[in-house]
Amino acid sequence: MAKVVLENVCKVFRDGKGNDVRAVDDVNLVIEDQEFMVFVGPSGCGKSTTLRMVAGLEEITAGTIAIDGKVVNNVPPKDRDIAMVFQNYALYPHMTVYKNMAFGLMLRKYPKAEIEQRVREAAEILGIEPLLDRKPKELSGGQRQRVAVGRAIVRKPKVFLFDEPLSNLDAKMRVQMRTEISKLHHRLSATMIYVTHDQVEAMTMGDRITVMNAGKIQQVDAPLSLYQRPANAFVAGFIGSPMMNFFEGETLAADGRLWFVEKAKNGAPGFRVCTDRSHEAALRSFVGRPLRMGLRSEDIHETSAAAPAPSGAGVRAKVEVVEPMGSEVYLYLATGAHNFIARVGAARKADVNHEVEIRFDMERAHFFDVSTEKAIA
Ligand SMILES: Nc1ncnc2c1ncn2[C@@H]1O[C@H](COP(=O)(O)OP(=O)(O)OP(=O)(O)O)[C@@H](O)[C@H]1O
Ligand SMILES: [Mg+2]
Repeated sequence: MAKVVLENVCKVFRDGKGNDVRAVDDVNLVIEDQEFMVFVGPSGCGKSTTLRMVAGLEEITAGTIAIDGKVVNNVPPKDRDIAMVFQNYALYPHMTVYKNMAFGLMLRKYPKAEIEQRVREAAEILGIEPLLDRKPKELSGGQRQRVAVGRAIVRKPKVFLFDEPLSNLDAKMRVQMRTEISKLHHRLSATMIYVTHDQVEAMTMGDRITVMNAGKIQQVDAPLSLYQRPANAFVAGFIGSPMMNFFEGETLAADGRLWFVEKAKNGAPGFRVCTDRSHEAALRSFVGRPLRMGLRSEDIHETSAAAPAPSGAGVRAKVEVVEPMGSEVYLYLATGAHNFIARVGAARKADVNHEVEIRFDMERAHFFDVSTEKAIA
């Protein structure tokens, strides 16, 4: 059992001017045994600092961290039974791949036969057996990264920590290593914590994702749950690409229905769309108050003579940019008050600067309280 539990964990750094920097702010998190947990968030939000505290490379200012039921606040890194793989996985340049992987075990005075067995096993898992006699400079970036992972595997740690291990690799190699690390997780059944900037890595690799911002946890959930039910506007805007479209406005009760009325800007009147019945109960207490509506680009559709917008769902917008992506087209649209993106079929040849009518799939709209940023429906 290698469960990792963080309770009220804080990290305060003192910067050069003597000011306190609250890098990690009251983090509470349980990473289950054998779970693959991803940390994502913008640069500087405290991902690496949190990971380094789990590893013991950074002192904990307040709170406790427990690994496998034991509080490790005062346990030195080498006794925590964890292995960490960094972005800059410096391999020893003068040692062979074999020696690079064996070195940690040699320092720990493991018997030679045991070391040999573990290195061969790790090399087999990673498909680098033919490279064992090479030096790091004779390897590709992806192969070097595999050696760095191998160095962690031979330790048979309770917990693997990865801090953006693939960010030095080119796009193709990243995709390959991404699937390899996922396979490794299944094969080793180990607890893994994986820090990344990369949306796709977060969505595809994690059992669960922890989204951080400014030192605080915003939401912890399974990837699709985060996408479909973001707890607040930050998570809604951070998870997903292109990012969720946001519209400022307010709720209006009229004709027995609740409407979202876009905030007018520069004299352009705001659009008005009928909200879905499923949102009415939650929106009722917001009537007359400012509100933010979020819609993902795949939930915005073009209308046509054959498929007109149902009453109360159509919005007119100007096409500003057309981006053919191959499998689909991104339409950059503007209502006058807001710019937003719709994803439409690949065959679409929209004319720039022309007006089109689009339809919002209001059943899939998200609404956020402007003052708290929390999701309300
Ligand atoms: N040794 C340090 N002294 C002072 N401030 C630090 C130190 N290390 C990190 N910080 C600050 O703590 C905050 C969190 O840093 P951290 O490295 O954890 O961010 P991150 O989420 O890993 O970012 P990135 O995605 O850029 O790697 C940042 O504001 C950073 O400037
Ligand atoms: Mg970092």
